[in-house]
Amino acid sequence: MPRPLLYAFAVLFALSLVPLAFIARARSNHSDKPRIHIIPDMDNQARFEAQAGNAAFADGRGMRPPVEGAVPFQGAQLDDALNRGTHTVLMPPSPALYDELGVEGLFEHSVEVLPVHSFPMPVTAELLERGHERFDVFCAPCHGQSGYGDGMIDKRAAELQEGTWTIPSNLHDQPLREKPVGYLYGVVTNGARSMPAYGPQIPVEDRWAIVAYVKALQRSQDGDIEDVPVELRDQIRAE
Ligand code: HEC
Repeated sequence: MPRPLLYAFAVLFALSLVPLAFIARARSNHSDKPRIHIIPDMDNQARFEAQAGNAAFADGRGMRPPVEGAVPFQGAQLDDALNRGTHTVLMPPSPALYDELGVEGLFEHSVEVLPVHSFPMPVTAELLERGHERFDVFCAPCHGQSGYGDGMIDKRAAELQEGTWTIPSNLHDQPLREKPVGYLYGVVTNGARSMPAYGPQIPVEDRWAIVAYVKALQRSQDGDIEDVPVELRDQIRAE
C-alpha cells in the first residue's frame, strides 16, 4: 500500500474516535445546562418550585391556598355520618388485645370507625317517597321491587345461564335486616363484593332516602297481626 494512503487511513481512524470521546465525556460529566432538545414539545416550561416565593401575589407565596370554602373531592372525614355513614367510637380497653400483644396498660382506649345507627336527617314521608322512586330506578333492576333479589336483570341472567352472574342479595335476609343504617348506606356508596358502587351516581341525600326506603321495605315484609288496626284484624283473619 502507498504510504500517503496509509497516513490517510491512520488520520481517519484517529478522527473516528473523536465522537466516541465526546459521548464518553457526556456520560461521565455533570452539567447544569439542559440537554440538547431537538423537539422541545413543552417538556421544559417556566414554573415555580413548591414552597418558593412569588412576588406576583400579595402574600408572596408561590403555592396558592385553596379557594375559601373549597371542599376536597370525596374529602369527607372518616367519621362523617352524612357522607360516609360512619362515626368514630372510643372502644374500652380490651384485655384480650393486651394478652395478645403483651403490652398491658399501653393503650387506654382504641378508636374504631363504625357505621351509624341513626339517620343523619329527619326521616319524613317525603324522604321515603324519594327513596321509593330512586330504589325502583337504581336497585330494583337487580334486587327486585320488593327487594327479594329477583329483579329483571336477575331473571334475564337466570335465562342466559352464563354462569357468571352473582344472585343479588335478598334484602329481607335476617343479617341484612339487623344491619345499622350506616352499613346499608356504605353498601350503596361503595358497593359490596360483586355489587358495584353507586356513590358516584347517586347523590348523598338520595342514598339516605334509598336506605330509609329499604328499611321500610324490610319492615313491610316482617309484619304480623299486631301491626293491623284492631278493627280490621277480624277481617284479615277471615281472609
Ligand atoms: C347490577 C345489579 C345490582 C344493583 C343495581 C344493585 N345491587 Fe345490591 N347487590 C347486587 C349483588 C350481585 C349483591 C351480592 C354481592 C355478592 O354477594 O357478591 C348485592 C348485595 C347487596 C346488599 C348486601 C350487602 C352485604 O353486605 O351482604 C345490599 C344491602 C344491597 N345490595 C343493596 C342495594 C341497593 C340499596 C341498591 C340500589 C342503590 C343496589 N343494591 C343495587 C347487585 C346489585
